[in-house]
Amino acid sequence: MPAITATAPGKCILLGEHAVVYQRPAIAVPVHQVQIRAIITPIPGGNQNDIWIESPAIRLCSRLHQLAGTHPIKLLISAIMSDLNVDHLPPLRLKISSTIPAGSGLGSSASVAVAIIRAVTAFMGFSLDNSKINQLAYQSETHQHGNPSGIDNTVITYQQPIYFIREQPFELIRVKNSFALIIADTGIPSSTRDVVNDVRCQWQQNPTKFDTLFTCAADLCNQARSAIEDGNIQLLGDLMSRNHTVLQEMTVSSVMLDHLVDTALQAGALGAKLSGGGRGGNMIALVEPDESIHIETALKQAGAVNIIKTIIPANNTTTHP
Ligand code: MEV
Repeated sequence: MPAITATAPGKCILLGEHAVVYQRPAIAVPVHQVQIRAIITPIPGGNQNDIWIESPAIRLCSRLHQLAGTHPIKLLISAIMSDLNVDHLPPLRLKISSTIPAGSGLGSSASVAVAIIRAVTAFMGFSLDNSKINQLAYQSETHQHGNPSGIDNTVITYQQPIYFIREQPFELIRVKNSFALIIADTGIPSSTRDVVNDVRCQWQQNPTKFDTLFTCAADLCNQARSAIEDGNIQLLGDLMSRNHTVLQEMTVSSVMLDHLVDTALQAGALGAKLSGGGRGGNMIALVEPDESIHIETALKQAGAVNIIKTIIPANNTTTHP
């Protein structure tokens, strides 16, 4: 069996995080500037216990059978094997390397799952379609996050801008005019699981307030989809900034996120907001390409620890995958 390499990108949410957990729409795009890489090499002459899992980013180097039964990678590999109907793997080394910081809102856990699924299935000589890959990645996300909407695994599997409503078929978004994003990291890791759980507690205590906020985010998201399809980037920016205000009211922003959002807007961004679970992680700014250096410099001076620039290209995508 030859060595296999599979990769999966990061993602960012343009609008609708948190509300999407409650069946409201959200828009997400892939971020190809960061990725997870899963490399599988055979171990010739190894024995059945020689299935090594290495992930330097989380200081993991272990035989698979020695990982705890609840370890997400162990659970994922069991699910893949059961799906492929194989009862054992040949001796191998699975090395996972990452340029996606964990806990940063860029989808690292879903990306790890998609890269591993692609690598293991290809190594075993199988090919799974995207819908099956997405289903396995969602299962893995559920083990790790408890109650994910499924948007992260979906955008990372399909690697295109998506309009997503939980438990409904997602739609690919037609992008009339390309647009540029700056993604700036607060450097403060945050657990999506914890923030999602906290929002749930607050929603249970005050359903009227939170349902209104979720519906407000949904309305902004639907307008943003039309803006993207009409090529109205100015309007898209305004809607993103308004979504940030709604997220502040959900209490998922932070001093540093607000500081970077204000900095980007003052430096000329068309719109800016936190992206992902919030309370840390990354914010995004929609920028005119000509202004991008200026905004990037301002964000660095304001304390951003890492900056990614990405372009969402125009496409002629039909609305069904
Ligand atoms: C995380 O990228 C987005 C959240 O809405 C959680 C989810 O959708 O599962 C915060």
